[in-house]
Amino acid sequence: MRTQVGIIGGGPSGLLLARLLSLAGIRVVLLERQSPGYVLGRIRAGILETIATDLLREAGCGTRLDAEGLVHDGTFINFQGDGLRIDFKDLVGRHVTVYGQTEVTRDLMDANTAAGVEAFYEAPVTRIEGLQGDRVRLTFTHGGAEKVLECGFVAACDGYHGVGRAAIPASVLKTYERVYPFGWLGVLADVPPCAHELVYANHRNGFALASMRSPTRVRGYIQVPLHETVDDWSDERFWAEYKTRLGPETAKAVATGPSIEKSIAPLRSFVAEPMRYGRLFLAGDAAHIVPPTGAKGLNLAASDIRYLSRALIAHYANNSHDLIERYSADCLARVWKATRFSWWMTTLLHRFPETDAFGHGLQRTEFDYLKSSRAAQTVLAENYVGLPI
Ligand code: APR
Ligand code: PHB
Repeated sequence: MRTQVGIIGGGPSGLLLARLLSLAGIRVVLLERQSPGYVLGRIRAGILETIATDLLREAGCGTRLDAEGLVHDGTFINFQGDGLRIDFKDLVGRHVTVYGQTEVTRDLMDANTAAGVEAFYEAPVTRIEGLQGDRVRLTFTHGGAEKVLECGFVAACDGYHGVGRAAIPASVLKTYERVYPFGWLGVLADVPPCAHELVYANHRNGFALASMRSPTRVRGYIQVPLHETVDDWSDERFWAEYKTRLGPETAKAVATGPSIEKSIAPLRSFVAEPMRYGRLFLAGDAAHIVPPTGAKGLNLAASDIRYLSRALIAHYANNSHDLIERYSADCLARVWKATRFSWWMTTLLHRFPETDAFGHGLQRTEFDYLKSSRAAQTVLAENYVGLPI
């Protein structure tokens, strides 16, 4: 088998790249370890920057997004009894859109299937060879047989646990990591949201977030210690703690109901450099992980794919190598800024077990300053809605 671009991973990064390249007439083959149903069953983020929504429209996947996506002009922050609304529209003239990653994935999968994009599911890539040569060889298994795909370039869109990053020699790859001492317990339920925008809360018991997927479906999160499991959290216990942390005013409007999904995700910051090695590109979670507090994971994946699709299209259209050479540096500049912002939001809003009185004083002051300074609010707003490409 031969193709121009081999894509490892059929999450949002791989699906979006496959879509944009095939629209430009570039031949691609997508190899995904799991089944389509498994990929669609993963509940993840739900906030899109305009860079991401514009790119989805460019990919011909804007119809349902524009009909069902909820435009949010701001967000609320409740900090230990004090409240603040960050008005994105007033501060920076921009907004974000609530549209679940599951829906993004479904729209991209449907578009790729309709366009006849070649995709193999339950087809894990096991070996990557020839990254510094003329052609890359990807070995994968499918239907019990081992197969080889030869390609001009390979895009590792295979997430944090993928094989792509591991193919870069240790002497070349540098990684940066921060593991936070807590996780997020997330609950999905078919009840209406408690507010028309998201509510982020810092309470003495820890962080909480009231998010949503639609006018009839909420996604709620609370910070939990790493040793706890979903079995420690009945729906009743979750809703009670969630309401406490959101504060009495917000809690009054919280509707509760049976959870339809419940999971715990640890929080981590991670950056790998470089994001290109010869004919291999890393994109999305394969190259970086952010804690979810700033809602940047999916958006960074989209911006990587924007850079990568343009680089590969320029290469195949006019043999230009310039954007390929710049890919890693272009992506990383934006990745590090989102990494900084996500770390900052996490630090402001969580209860850190080791923090002393001095740390609590600084955290309180950070909020007071944010509340009193339009400049500080503008910094939050411009990062939240997404820094320019
Ligand atoms: N061969 C084939 N596929 C693989 C392999 C492999 N060896 N290893 C991993 N994969 C697949 C996984 O099964 C997964 O479906 O790669 C895909 C990676 O998808 P994601 O983890 O969703 O990563 P990405 O597409 O970059 O999306 C980033 O998703 O994880 C969230 O917070 C993240 O919102 C962000 C977005
Ligand atoms: C979500 O809706 O899942 C969500 C929203 C905002 C975040 C993180 C997650 O910061």
